[in-house]
Amino acid sequence: MLSSKRILLIIGGGIAAYKSLDLIRRLRERGAAVTPVLTRAAEEFVTPLSVSALAGEKVYRDLFDLTDEAEMGHIQLSRSADLIVVAPATADLMGKMASGLANDMASTLLMATDTPVLCAPAMNVRMWDHPATQRNLKQLQADGVRFVGPNEGDMACGEFGPGRMSEPLEIVAAIEAQLTAGPLAGKRVLVTSGPTHEPIDPVRYIANRSSGAQGAAVARALAHLGAEVIFVTGPADVPPPAGVQVVPVETAQQMSDAVDTALPVDAGVFAAAVADWRVASASDKKLKKSRDGLPVLEFAENPDILKRVSQLAVGRPPLVVGFAAETDDVVEHATAKRLRKGCDWIVANDVSPATGIMGGSENAVILISGSGTEEWPRLGKDEVARRLAAKIADALAG
Ligand code: CTP
Repeated sequence: MLSSKRILLIIGGGIAAYKSLDLIRRLRERGAAVTPVLTRAAEEFVTPLSVSALAGEKVYRDLFDLTDEAEMGHIQLSRSADLIVVAPATADLMGKMASGLANDMASTLLMATDTPVLCAPAMNVRMWDHPATQRNLKQLQADGVRFVGPNEGDMACGEFGPGRMSEPLEIVAAIEAQLTAGPLAGKRVLVTSGPTHEPIDPVRYIANRSSGAQGAAVARALAHLGAEVIFVTGPADVPPPAGVQVVPVETAQQMSDAVDTALPVDAGVFAAAVADWRVASASDKKLKKSRDGLPVLEFAENPDILKRVSQLAVGRPPLVVGFAAETDDVVEHATAKRLRKGCDWIVANDVSPATGIMGGSENAVILISGSGTEEWPRLGKDEVARRLAAKIADALAG
């Protein structure tokens, strides 16, 4: 799949650098040629010898190395690849890239290049969440840099949260998506997915039966067509697809904020089963049984994310797709919902228990747009996703 593709792999100085050794192997297995560049800090984590042995190529390390410059100058090196991959992209490297510093081989290559760049960030969770890193991320995205990960999970530093570098195969999927120019190459698409959890107290929450399967399938299909996908997901049963930028959230309010951060996009697909209500004042202590009787929960309305984005006066995505989960009069309810929300298309489905759709592997969909309704046969959720992604590609091309 990657035969005859040239990857310039910049390895930054983080503990995740060990995964980059496996990444080199995976890329070469797929026929790609990998030219490795190590930062000084990276050499504290992996040796030039192991990197060079796996890549089967010389390792570039020093901007002022006359041998390096004589063989291939840094300007030529920066432009000789089909894609530059920065993995791990440390907080330091992201900061340099965002502010245009060029004081070593890696940062100079990144400044001198006109080749697309893909970053796989890896850092401590606090460093990732730091406003400076988030600012740099926004800037780099605006500059056209693409991202895969970071993932959430246990970290080498003993903490938990977003900041783990994506696994080598996820990075490979992102590279493939970026290099295989699909019809959505260069398009940025937002997908919301999964349920939301609305806290009652620190241990209890209100949720719904959405597994996140359809949203994950849509995100995967869009990425396969070459889109840059920002995948904002509530706590779903199914894992997020590889090759997309995952933004994990819990509540509707967090999902709404994450959607705002992701804008602008070329298309938004709102597949999440967002809770309509939250508990107005969730307790910060566990509610106890009391002799005074049962607790009374008061609800407040959550933001309607789809409606808000559909009706944005400035920055509305050119194509907005909603989903409608109905249990009766599917077409009438979904048609009314499309007009009420102001979105372009509604993917309507019958989620009444007898259909087995919610939480199941199949879906029966009616696509409602301004030009009428289109009924699809009962299909696997992956197939529904591929059809929808193809329609989105068609709409964005036209
Ligand atoms: N949606 C949203 N934010 C909400 C509620 C729903 O973005 N707070 C989006 C869903 O992601 C979906 C669409 O709106 O794309 C319709 O969701 P659905 O639950 O079917 O409809 P509701 O708006 O909740 O309307 P109702 O409860 O009347 O069916």
